[in-house]
Amino acid sequence: MVKSSSIVIQAKGLKKSYGKNNVLKGIDLTVERGTMLALLGPNGAGKTTTVRILSTLLGYDTGKVTVEGFDVKTEADKVRSVIGLTGQSAAVDELLTGRENLVMMGRLYRLTSASAKARAQELLEEFDLVDAAERPAKTYSGGMRRRLDLAVSLIATPPVIFLDEPTTGLDPRSRISMWEIIERLKANGATILLTTQYLEEADQLADKIVVIDGGKVIAEGTAKDLKSKVGKDRLELTFATTKSYKQAVNVLGKTVQESNDEEKTVSVVLKDTNADVRKTLDTLQKESLKFEAMAVHKPTLDDVFLALTGKQTKETETK
Ligand SMILES: Nc1ncnc2c1ncn2[C@@H]1O[C@H](COP(=O)(O)OP(=O)(O)OP(=O)(O)O)[C@@H](O)[C@H]1O
Ligand SMILES: [Mg+2]
Repeated sequence: MVKSSSIVIQAKGLKKSYGKNNVLKGIDLTVERGTMLALLGPNGAGKTTTVRILSTLLGYDTGKVTVEGFDVKTEADKVRSVIGLTGQSAAVDELLTGRENLVMMGRLYRLTSASAKARAQELLEEFDLVDAAERPAKTYSGGMRRRLDLAVSLIATPPVIFLDEPTTGLDPRSRISMWEIIERLKANGATILLTTQYLEEADQLADKIVVIDGGKVIAEGTAKDLKSKVGKDRLELTFATTKSYKQAVNVLGKTVQESNDEEKTVSVVLKDTNADVRKTLDTLQKESLKFEAMAVHKPTLDDVFLALTGKQTKETETK
């Protein structure tokens, strides 16, 4: 049933509005077989809306969306048969135990009672939930709950998986264990579209990153491509006195990219990292200017994000 084209998920010119609010303003994206795409964007960028449309849960206005070559509008049933979805609000019944949730979902997918039970056991082991299997889901910690959400969505071993912010609000340890699980899914050949607000997560997991903001794609490529967009390394020099700081700004002239009076720091863009560091230090030496600290900064995805959206990412907010 699965077609062999290398593009598994494709959206072209995808638009969606709620009344006058144009939430998606023409999104284009493709995900190739066996790869992971991270859809990265701040709150309200349109990530969940995109995932809900791609997974047939929500209609759209214009554009074309296919999953495994099936049109999400006209062949929604076929799309549903190849996808697994873990949403920000997933389909776990709080009152049922972890095991019961899994067995119930298995039955919904028309597994026989015996296969549903066997698959439930397999997933409980895989997701490290055996000890908690007989407890109601409402007693689970955030990390356990997220693992159960994901396990439930994997009952039918779907080849295409959508993960909407799978690690938002998890503590660092749970996040890492979720990353391991996600990496295993990919190693098993799944095609994955994951949304995230964490650059680090996109960097760590994804083959390709699409950055969206305000319902538009504002950049895409590998983490490396995106970093090279904001460009060069920077040399940051900190001075002990306002006098030496001001003199430095003066003698370094046009090479100064940024200076901060309060912190007494000067940033110099490095076109050729080694040569330019040497040149800068020579210039200071000639004027007998002493700095207090220096550091070379490589561009991070945070820099990319800031450059593209004008917004800082947030690493602490939970929902
Ligand atoms: N049912 C709805 N009715 C009206 N507006 C909506 C609805 N759902 C989403 N929106 C609006 O669409 C925009 C995009 O929302 P969406 O949930 O897709 O963002 P997101 O990128 O998933 O954000 P977050 O990181 O907070 O989950 C927001 O401005 C939101 O207010
Ligand atoms: Mg969302």
